[in-house]
Amino acid sequence: MSTPFTATVLTLYPDAFPGVLGASLIGRALSMKKWQLETLDIRSFSHHKHASVDDTPAGGGPGMVLRPDVAAAAMDAVDLKGRPLIYLSPRGKPLTQAMVREYAAGPGLVLFCGRFEGLDQRVIEAREMVEISVGDFVLAGGEVAAQAMIEACVRLLPGVLGAAESTDEESFEGGLLEYPHYTRPRIWEGRETPPVLLSGDHGAVAKWRRDEAIKITRARRPDLLGRAAGKENKNERD
Ligand SMILES: C[S@@+](CC[C@H](N)C(=O)[O-])C[C@H]1O[C@@H](n2cnc3c(N)ncnc32)[C@H](O)[C@@H]1O
Repeated sequence: MSTPFTATVLTLYPDAFPGVLGASLIGRALSMKKWQLETLDIRSFSHHKHASVDDTPAGGGPGMVLRPDVAAAAMDAVDLKGRPLIYLSPRGKPLTQAMVREYAAGPGLVLFCGRFEGLDQRVIEAREMVEISVGDFVLAGGEVAAQAMIEACVRLLPGVLGAAESTDEESFEGGLLEYPHYTRPRIWEGRETPPVLLSGDHGAVAKWRRDEAIKITRARRPDLLGRAAGKENKNERD
């Protein structure tokens, strides 16, 4: 049997895993070996006094920096097996659903979780790490970012989501945010479910959902709308 999608996480806090990745469908898929999770404790690769992993920043300033020798020793202990070596970093390329789809189609991920002020630049360059950000904000460490990225990939693996949970019409698929959802009761606190959704007219429902998706994308993420239009024009030309 071929090796399932494997996430290897290098972290100072291995106890933070599986964390949320052990819950719900992703956790069930993990126990069913539809994907694999490994953690490596960065600190165990330190040969310094008190197993220290960080030192003061060259040039001065606040905080501490993860040492390149310790970080590299941890990375070099991992057999990449064709997987990208990723440094989760607010300076990285913002993670998108298109990137998630690409990574989910590959053999897995090797993720380095930073702490303190981050990782010494030389090791990022020397090990040709791919820097990826999960958003324009600063977390205390890479562990939550790693779990977000792994979860986004694993839910796309075959057999992880039930047939009922299709990913085709989700936000970002087709370049739009998703339309709003409603369920029972039909009227809640005086607010009514849009009647078209209860009409049984599949064409009208599809049109309403498309119009709503465009409306919400225009209001919240006009940058996506430009890209979606570009994609549609390209498809028409092809
Ligand atoms: C406190 S942050 C370091 C922030 C860094 N000094 C800066 O200003 O860019 C510590 C670690 O958290 C992780 N991290 C923080 N924000 C992140 C984000 N938006 N995406 C991915 N990782 C993040 C990174 O691994 C980073 O090395």
